[in-house]
Amino acid sequence: MTSKVRLCPVADVKDGEPVGVFLEQLPALAVYNVDGDIFVTDNMCTHGNAMLTDGYQDGGIIECPFHGGSFDIATGAAKAFPCQVPVKTYPVTIDDEWVCIDQPDGVA
Ligand code: FES
Repeated sequence: MTSKVRLCPVADVKDGEPVGVFLEQLPALAVYNVDGDIFVTDNMCTHGNAMLTDGYQDGGIIECPFHGGSFDIATGAAKAFPCQVPVKTYPVTIDDEWVCIDQPDGVA
């Protein structure tokens, strides 16, 4: 059975204000509220060494703080140059008012 990892309380994630989650043995993650829906992606931009949570959320788009690249928060698709590689997304479940993802494969 896949176990869940709790990232942060849902109430901590305000619409338009992504939250960085840094847990041991997981990649840096970004949690978003888009009009009441919660999404999780890797926090590291696929173009360079920037945390997307330092960028700017515009609706369902997160703009990297470097170089002006951007991603679709729901799908991870690269939306603006120079980003071309999608950012990884994670299916989200809400458990007891916490944002949770499945424990990634290969992580104890
Ligand atoms: Fe994100 Fe370059 S590091 S667009």
